[in-house]
This record gives sequence, C-alpha cells and structure tokens, in this order.
Amino acid sequence: MPIPKIIMHNSVSLDGSFTNFDVDMELHYQIAGRYQADANLIGSNTIKAGIEIYGGEIPQENETDFTKPARDPALPYWIIVDTKGITQGLLHICRSFEFCKDVIVLISQQTSRDYIDYLNERNYDYLVNGKEHADYEKALHILNTKYGIKTVLVDSGPVLNGLLLGRGLIDEISLLVSPVLVGTKSDKLLAHLNFEVQNVNLELLTCEGLDKGQVLLRYKVLR
Ligand SMILES: NC(=O)c1ccc[n+]([C@@H]2O[C@H](COP(=O)([O-])OP(=O)(O)OC[C@H]3O[C@@H](n4cnc5c(N)ncnc54)[C@H](OP(=O)(O)O)[C@@H]3O)[C@@H](O)[C@H]2O)c1
Repeated sequence: MPIPKIIMHNSVSLDGSFTNFDVDMELHYQIAGRYQADANLIGSNTIKAGIEIYGGEIPQENETDFTKPARDPALPYWIIVDTKGITQGLLHICRSFEFCKDVIVLISQQTSRDYIDYLNERNYDYLVNGKEHADYEKALHILNTKYGIKTVLVDSGPVLNGLLLGRGLIDEISLLVSPVLVGTKSDKLLAHLNFEVQNVNLELLTCEGLDKGQVLLRYKVLR
C-alpha cells in the first residue's frame, strides 16, 4: 500500500523537552518549509495549544470561512487528526492561515454527528477511518492516492509522534535543538515510545549549526 514519505519535525531543548522553553517559531517553520512537504500532519492537542498560546482571541467566523480557499496549489494541506471534535469552532483559524492550502480532517467511526455536520457545513474534506481513533495507514494511503500527497511533515507533540514512530511510519526525524536545559520541568518529546520490543536505530543525515547556538539534527529512521 503506497503511503507518503513522513518527516517528523520538532523543536527541543538540549535535554529533549518539547515544552517549557521558548521555541524559535520563525526558525522552526523556516526549516519545516525546506522539506517542501505536500501536507502537515497535526494532532488536535497541538492545534488547541497553538491557538491558546499564539492565537489570542478566537475570531468570529465569516462567510469566506465556509468555502474552500483558492490558494497556491504548491502550499501544503493541513491534515488535522481529530476524532473527538476538539477543534470544533477552531478550524476557521487554521483555514485562514495564508500558508495553508486547506484543512483535511481525519476522523473515525466514533466521531460525533455534531462535528461531522460542522465539517460538512463548512466544506472541509474529511476521511473516516478506524473504529475509535484514525487508522493512519489507511488515511495516509488515501492522502497519497486521492490527493497526490508524497511528503508529509508531522508537526505534533509526543502522543502522535510516538504513535507514528511505533507503527514504523516515520522515515525521517528533524530536530531543532535549542541551547537550553529545562531540567525537572522537562516534558520528553519521545516519552510515549514503547522501547520494550525493539530500539529504533537511526542514521545521521545532517548536523547543522544555526543562529543563536541552535543545531539542526536530521536522522533517517532505519527499519
Ligand atoms: N516543540 C515542538 O516542536 C512541538 C510541536 C508540536 C506540538 N508541540 C506541543 O505538543 C503538545 C501537544 O502534544 P500531544 O502529544 O499532547 O498531542 P498531539 O501531538 O496533538 O497528538 C494528539 C493526537 O493523537 C491522537 N491519538 C491519541 N491517542 C491515539 C491512539 N491511541 N491512536 C491513534 N491516535 C491517537 C489524537 O487523536 P484523536 O482525535 O483520535 O484523539 C490527537 O489528534 C502541545 O503542548 C504543543 O504545544 C510541540
């Protein structure tokens, strides 16, 4: 079953935390842009946290929020995983972002009618896969064959990253390391990985020194 190449991209402290330090957002997304992904895969917690931290007040929906935007076809889709409808009332903020081609939502057989109505009324594409949570393998296959998506950048936290890595779906890991230690406040990016069965071996692709003491590490995941 063909699926897109998947790159996980995160900003971390030197001690591996993904929160509790100032992420250099400009550099984070500048590097994300280098991968020229056809889609960004984003978890619902990440969307909610991003809007809470950086979004300010939630703007009212207007007429244009109910139609698909006409944007440069080279822009990436935002694929949002949300089987529980956590992003209900928030998706117009994502759609209005100028660097987003449009939003596609991954839902499951347990997603509420209310959320599906919300998506239909606003002309959002969605894929129904999986019983409780999304079936990522199936969804990625459809994204590849129906939407022509060849490269996906995962812009998410430890839950979704851990799940995708655990299922052998991640091809590359891109870490922007900040010169800061978070110590006991640290939330480890890959804390949700279950290593009991087998370690995940990696091959270093590049190690690049950047502004302000930051380092970009890129690894290939070996299978
Ligand atoms: N430093 C960085 O680079 C960086 C980048 C992105 C985000 N973040 C931070 O990461 C935090 C959010 O991370 P998070 O890990 O809590 O959330 P997340 O990455 O947004 O992942 C949550 C997603 O995982 C899915 N999921 C949960 N359990 C599942 C299962 N058993 N099977 C399949 N899918 C499942 C959920 O889908 P359902 O809809 O099915 O529940 C949900 O959409 C925020 O604080 C954000 O600011 C940091």
